[in-house]
Amino acid sequence: MRAPWLVDSLKGAMSAEHFHLAWFLQGSSIQAWRAPWTGNISEEWMVPTLFLDLVRAMERACFDYILIEDSIYVGQNWKNSREIFLKNGMSIPRQEPSVVATMMAAVTSRLGIVPTLSTFAYHPYLCARILSTLDQVSTGRAGWNMVTGSSDLSAMNFGMDALPPHDQRYEMAEEYVEIVKRLFGSWEPGAIVADRESGVLIDHTKVHTIDFKGKYYSSRGPLNSGPAPQGQPVIAQAGGSDKGRGFAAKYADTIVAHPKGVDAMKQYREDIRTRMVQAGRNPESCKVLFLISPIVAESNEEARAKADQRAVAAEKNIDVRLAQFGWSTNLDLSDIDLDTPVGQLELSTNGHQSSLAQFLKRAGNKSLRDAIIGHNSNGGTVDLVGDPDSVAGRMREVMQEVGGDGFLLNLPDVSRRSVATITDGLVPELQQRGLVRRAYAHEHLRDNLLEF
Ligand SMILES: Cc1cc2nc3c(=O)[nH]c(=O)nc-3n(C[C@H](O)[C@H](O)[C@H](O)COP(=O)(O)O)c2cc1C
Repeated sequence: MRAPWLVDSLKGAMSAEHFHLAWFLQGSSIQAWRAPWTGNISEEWMVPTLFLDLVRAMERACFDYILIEDSIYVGQNWKNSREIFLKNGMSIPRQEPSVVATMMAAVTSRLGIVPTLSTFAYHPYLCARILSTLDQVSTGRAGWNMVTGSSDLSAMNFGMDALPPHDQRYEMAEEYVEIVKRLFGSWEPGAIVADRESGVLIDHTKVHTIDFKGKYYSSRGPLNSGPAPQGQPVIAQAGGSDKGRGFAAKYADTIVAHPKGVDAMKQYREDIRTRMVQAGRNPESCKVLFLISPIVAESNEEARAKADQRAVAAEKNIDVRLAQFGWSTNLDLSDIDLDTPVGQLELSTNGHQSSLAQFLKRAGNKSLRDAIIGHNSNGGTVDLVGDPDSVAGRMREVMQEVGGDGFLLNLPDVSRRSVATITDGLVPELQQRGLVRRAYAHEHLRDNLLEF
């Protein structure tokens, strides 16, 4: 624990150009089973000890939040078979994120915990109830990654034939979020009296029904789990399409985005800020964080060698990469000759539209083989390869050009060792430059997000 005077002096050391850091966690901890230095993870994954150590390290490095990604299906978008997904542990197994979130909350005290809850899978009342409970047990650190889902296979797990069309999903999500927000608001501040003398625990005049009747969802309220410490837990969103951006600009407190390259990042952020003003919001009230997958090693040469190894592995695993791409876009590309120019394929999706659009734009007329080697659906917005000093310097330049607000880190090979390259290698370099926080100023996630 740091002495209070030290906390204050560290706060004063922040420069004017500081930015936020968050972590994007994909999958179950078993997915690191073949990465070096993961210990006995293939036996221990059910109790996610690796992830609990990860959040402890992130809190030591003063990250704003961890976002726990989710999907609710077993892939079958390759040769119409589940084999490649199961054999390689691609997005399987996936534990229910709010349960894992609760364990993470228990071993941390300042880090924001942001599970993904998909709108097609949880009724809005249940979603609000889970989030208010998470906010309570974490003392004000809960967030919600609001996603509408993208796979018909997941819809089938919930008794539907397919997901509704892309744009309609966002229309439904508007109603959904309205209900969730109103349920959070169903408890007025000061509703819990707990007056032993009068014997009143809760002032019934301060707890209200919401009586929401929508086209897609309805809910009566009030929320029976009680008020959330943050009032309204934080909403994270990742809209890439026009509809998605419009939605994010209206509701999100933080946006996670992956436009490729500095110009696209800058444009994306400016577009969101313009849309926020049009929606009557202060653009400073939403922090846009850009996905990065930095390769950090002790020397630039070592980091470059690691990047080269990854590129070689990508060339060897074309079917796995195409299957992964098919997983997020709902496309089975297993029948297509790898030499076919991508420009000749007529691809469209009801899944992640912006992921497909980005792929098509970058592929141009390359063959499917070359296009998928160069494509990494979970890859970063900018390439960051080097020792802590050079990666920190590049992150500063990128943020200066983009204008803010921070980065969302994602490592394909999560292990205690790879996490330490970030939390104990890269982050201290950023801290010494006064770019990221060295101590939390607040208890609640929202307040930490709004700190700068
Ligand atoms: C960093 C990031 C994290 C995301 N996490 C999830 C997730 O956990 N579950 C999910 O179904 N979709 C996730 N998505 C997909 C988005 O919710 C959204 O569908 C996608 O960005 C495409 O945007 P669009 O629907 O506006 O085309 C994520 C996207 C990004 C960029």
